[in-house]
Amino acid sequence: MFIFSSEQDSVSRRCVWVNGPVIVGAGPSGLAVGACLREQGVPFVVIERSDCIASLWQKRTYDRLKLHLPKKFCQLPKFPFPDHFPEYPTKRQFIEYLELYAKHFDINPQFNECVQSAKYDETCRVWRVKTSSPNGFEVEYISQWLVVATGENAERVVPEIEGLEEFGGEVIHACDYKSGKNYKGKKVVVVGCGNSGMEVSLDLSNHGAQPSIVCRSSVHVLPREIFGKSTFELAMLMMKWVPLWLVDKILLILAWFILGNIENYGLKRPSIGPLELKNKHGKTPVLDIGALEKIRSGKVKVVPGIKKFSCGTVELVTGEKLEIDSVVLATGYCSNVPYWLQESEFFSNNGFPKAQIPNNWKGKSGLYAIGFTRKGLAGASADAINIAQDIGKVYKEDLKQKKQKVPTHRRCISTF
Ligand SMILES: Cc1cc2nc3c(=O)[nH]c(=O)nc-3n(C[C@H](O)[C@H](O)[C@H](O)COP(=O)(O)OP(=O)(O)OC[C@H]3O[C@@H](n4cnc5c(N)ncnc54)[C@H](O)[C@@H]3O)c2cc1C
Ligand SMILES: NC(=O)c1ccc[n+]([C@@H]2O[C@H](COP(=O)([O-])OP(=O)(O)OC[C@H]3O[C@@H](n4cnc5c(N)ncnc54)[C@H](OP(=O)(O)O)[C@@H]3O)[C@@H](O)[C@H]2O)c1
Repeated sequence: MFIFSSEQDSVSRRCVWVNGPVIVGAGPSGLAVGACLREQGVPFVVIERSDCIASLWQKRTYDRLKLHLPKKFCQLPKFPFPDHFPEYPTKRQFIEYLELYAKHFDINPQFNECVQSAKYDETCRVWRVKTSSPNGFEVEYISQWLVVATGENAERVVPEIEGLEEFGGEVIHACDYKSGKNYKGKKVVVVGCGNSGMEVSLDLSNHGAQPSIVCRSSVHVLPREIFGKSTFELAMLMMKWVPLWLVDKILLILAWFILGNIENYGLKRPSIGPLELKNKHGKTPVLDIGALEKIRSGKVKVVPGIKKFSCGTVELVTGEKLEIDSVVLATGYCSNVPYWLQESEFFSNNGFPKAQIPNNWKGKSGLYAIGFTRKGLAGASADAINIAQDIGKVYKEDLKQKKQKVPTHRRCISTF
């Protein structure tokens, strides 16, 4: 890496030549690809807008969070979870693991630098990645490769709901919810019945609040385990032998036996099966870890869509009005790639690669994407291995050819 600085105007600017890929994002995906590149002997720079690794896990998740899938499906390449970790590690344990992981592979991100734009320079055949820091510092990284690791959940989704500004009580997104301890005795509307909405409702109820969960359309709820085996693992196993539609049917029958008919509690099931829905529309089924029992016992109330809010009240589409104290928007997340990546061939305008799995990790001109397969941490690990091998091949070839001619660290003239 070579740095050229200029402080001639009020903003301090630097230009950095990176002798290897620039990785945007120091979440599990960015770390995984960094680790695999390290093994290939390829240098890299990781850029992270936050002041820590895995900022989603450290700063934007609730206290009671655990991995929903068994640990063997969540560990990153080349470094297993410690043996003493439970089957479903807690958020704290997962962060501890990621910190060990970064240390083990000597990954030291550039913290507090948010990528504002990234563009391929056709003339020089390099990516120009511009970042800014809270202190006004700006950097342009120049690199042959760009790895997008900013995640499927980079930004909160806040829907526009009539009257929300007039509500007057506390309104937060699930990413700012930590625990129900300050909600004792309060009536809370949780908007959204994905995994976040279900778990926040469960937590609120455990802390003595009275949550109502909004289920405006439909949702698949599956038990986290079936006959002591992870439902996810069981589904993966079955998919080796039987078609997806049949796996869906079997899962739904088993779910019915274990959980009963969830439609009795106001939770409508989608018309297509859970795996097909995930594949086609990216909608993750809820893996139940206790919310359904709360719903069954009436401690969490299921309500239909919201018509509007007014002072201290929410009106539902049925016309029913509920007096409430707080709102938690568990309305999901979105990718932020379209806001900064100036490219439209590989990425679509929803911030996900256009190509289908297994071809959605590699674009043109040295562009890569990791963690956009809607397959969670397991998907990110597979991407990391592919990307590092791909870059490693070219890097080593280049190195062989240029060894005698070009020094490893090249000077780059600032374009600012
Ligand atoms: C509440 C919750 C629980 C989850 N639980 C599980 C689970 O149990 N199992 C599972 O497999 N998946 C789970 N997920 C999905 C989760 O997204 C992945 O586990 C994992 O965090 C994805 O890693 P990532 O590195 O791709 O994205 P992220 O973890 O989101 O990391 C992306 C990083 O990029 C940074 N970044 C974003 N934009 C910029 C920018 N412009 N410039 C610089 N840096 C930027 C972010 O700050 C962040 O640190 C969960 C998600 C949520 C919201
Ligand atoms: N422990 C875990 O592993 C864990 C825990 C939490 C989250 N996660 C993961 O994190 C990701 C995000 O999950 P998430 O639950 O935050 O988001 P999500 O799965 O995208 O769910 C968002 C929910 O909000 C609803 N919604 C959106 N706008 C609405 C509106 N205006 N009115 C009413 N409802 C509205 C959606 O309803 P519609 O379906 O009708 O659009 C949906 O029910 C998922 O991959 C999930 O699996 C994992």
